[in-house]
Amino acid sequence: METEGSIAYDEVVELALYDPNHGFYATSGQAGRRGDFITSPEVGPLFGELVASYLDQEWDRCGNPDEFVFVDAGAGPGTLARTIAAANPRCADVLRYVAVEISDAQRESHPPFVESASQLPTGPFDGVIFANELLDNLTFTPVRRHDGELRTVRVGCEDDELMEVVGDRLAAEDVSHFKPGIVGGVVQQAAANWLEHARTSLTQGSVVVIDYARDRSEDVEVRTYLGHERGTSPLVQLGSNDITVDVDLAQLQSRVGPATELTTQKAFLEELGIEDLVEEGRAHWKENAAVGDLGALKARSRVREAEALLDPEGLGGFTVATWR
Ligand SMILES: C[S@@+](CC[C@H](N)C(=O)[O-])C[C@H]1O[C@@H](n2cnc3c(N)ncnc32)[C@H](O)[C@@H]1O
Repeated sequence: METEGSIAYDEVVELALYDPNHGFYATSGQAGRRGDFITSPEVGPLFGELVASYLDQEWDRCGNPDEFVFVDAGAGPGTLARTIAAANPRCADVLRYVAVEISDAQRESHPPFVESASQLPTGPFDGVIFANELLDNLTFTPVRRHDGELRTVRVGCEDDELMEVVGDRLAAEDVSHFKPGIVGGVVQQAAANWLEHARTSLTQGSVVVIDYARDRSEDVEVRTYLGHERGTSPLVQLGSNDITVDVDLAQLQSRVGPATELTTQKAFLEELGIEDLVEEGRAHWKENAAVGDLGALKARSRVREAEALLDPEGLGGFTVATWR
């Protein structure tokens, strides 16, 4: 196996995930890893309504500060911003909405009322840093056991073919994430760095991470999606695959400390009162179905949105990790 002239696997992953001219979604439609490719804010306005309630709860818990920052990390085209604004949270007058998005093309779609940025703002500030389906997009390093030692997997090129090659020995603190004897795994340095930055930016408030997650490093695997189907090797059809990993909570927590709360999206949204909103929608639809006006259609849509957001096999099964 040859290592010279190789490029790091995580650079390849970054190239595949992110096209600077067309943005993240340019490679294969909207990013995702379940094959349905719809994120919770994109399901409809209900998710934003509930996040707006969470924001108010946090604003109250922090003692109603004069400025409250909501950082929408990995904001995509700004759909969550639009739905939170439409929900008109009580803290709206003191809310500074920062939409952080790495893709220029996505930032161009941000609504004018947000502060659009390409990087996390530096604190300290009071507020909520919210990352829905961001952390699984951040670069990671696959590792594999070779001659008894865990080593990084890198990518080399021979006869115009990309291939995996053996990289460096893993640093001791990274080895500690894995059980002895494990064959391979993934080091999520960028996600841990992101979380550490986020946590240290807040004086009061919370960091909320919503993603597909695992709590054992050895269960995390690299997956690819191509044209809404599971793909094969990340080195095949470079630039066309969505390449992703589950977020490894064990690694994140070993860096920044245990999450204050770990729950599912279903439980998180139920706690925020999704059932009441759905009931309200159902009742409104029943009374106004015959009229069929916009209000009635919106009410009916709420019922459908809730089903998607709470589905334990889909978005409802996501992990919500909160550090306060
Ligand atoms: C799966 S999408 C989720 C978008 C949005 N949060 C949602 O739930 O609809 C992930 C977004 O994160 C952006 N992204 C990836 N890496 C990023 C980074 N390092 N900083 C900011 N945004 C990033 C991508 O361009 C993409 O728009």
